[in-house]
Amino acid sequence: MGDGGIAVYDNGFYDAGVRSCAGLQADGVQGPCDDLGLGATIGPQNLPLSNSRFFQRPENIAQAPPIATRPDESPLLANPQPLQIDERVNVDGTFKTPGLRNIELTAPYFHNGGALTLRQVVDFYNRGGDFHNQNLDPDIQPLNLTTTEKSALVAFLKAFTDERVRYERAPFDHPELFLSNGAPLDNNSVFNDGSGRAVQSTKHIPAVGRGGRQVADSNFLDPPPILAVQPGSITFTAKLLNLGTLPGQALQITNQGGGTLSWSATNSKPWLSLSFASGTAPSSPVVSVNPVGLVVGIFTDTITITAPDCSPVTVPVTLNITLF
Ligand code: HEM
Repeated sequence: MGDGGIAVYDNGFYDAGVRSCAGLQADGVQGPCDDLGLGATIGPQNLPLSNSRFFQRPENIAQAPPIATRPDESPLLANPQPLQIDERVNVDGTFKTPGLRNIELTAPYFHNGGALTLRQVVDFYNRGGDFHNQNLDPDIQPLNLTTTEKSALVAFLKAFTDERVRYERAPFDHPELFLSNGAPLDNNSVFNDGSGRAVQSTKHIPAVGRGGRQVADSNFLDPPPILAVQPGSITFTAKLLNLGTLPGQALQITNQGGGTLSWSATNSKPWLSLSFASGTAPSSPVVSVNPVGLVVGIFTDTITITAPDCSPVTVPVTLNITLF
């Protein structure tokens, strides 16, 4: 283990240092652990998820299978010994090592989605994991890879992609699917469905047929576009006796999310105009006013910018016409 000790573990489950987990302390009490993983218990009887822990329970120890490989006990390999009730088990903070087939298509990575890209996974392993837990597997060590080696490792992982899976071709074609896709908006706000619950969105995945699709589906994590407009409001001041030409003011329309954001803008008053009223973010249309024909006073209008899958943004515009 990371602390140099020896422990029995459930086959295929390791602490790769994704989250912090202190493991069992000297007094036998569980130390702080962000995520117990396999160390958790389940059901009304709090049964351990781990096989090793399960067989260490007094009522099961008699059925405990012999442990074939204790690395410090090579003479015992030919004579496997049963699991002992007080033997150290490497369970808390361990997770099943997932298969890496088609791994390119299944971001985000790790049990908590902590790595968004394969490059982030490789950087994680290159720095020897994020937490040097007591149970950390000894194979998790800084790797000192060069940039070229990291890229080669990412390319290697991408070589595990089956193009039939990427394009959903037979035998990986599928019927029409409707998948629950969370709630629109974000952590801070959702739409109320009228009963105090969040409106749910559903993702429709059409049937593909055996030939699959021409363009691969985007990764489910691809963030939706998020419309952002600056400034939040615009004010023009014009002098009635010296109207001249008022300088325009630029709106900054940006996409703070992912994908493509195609916007269009509307307003209602004839004295207000935009240099262009639709486009693909980022865009900087110029807002202009033409006060000719207006009298002294304060005039208001609102520019409303809309984009598919985005909440509309409104920008109040005030035109203040004074005499001098
Ligand atoms: C440079 C070598 C390695 C690469 C490129 C690699 C790659 C990966 C990738 C891509 C994942 C994410 C899989 C997913 O989320 O579907 C993963 C997870 C995992 N790997 Fe590795 N791995 C490496 C070394 C190791 C070693 C040495 C161990 C065992 C000691 C290990 C144990 C695990 C475990 C337990 C997980 C799941 C972790 C979690 O979900 O929190 N890996 N690995």
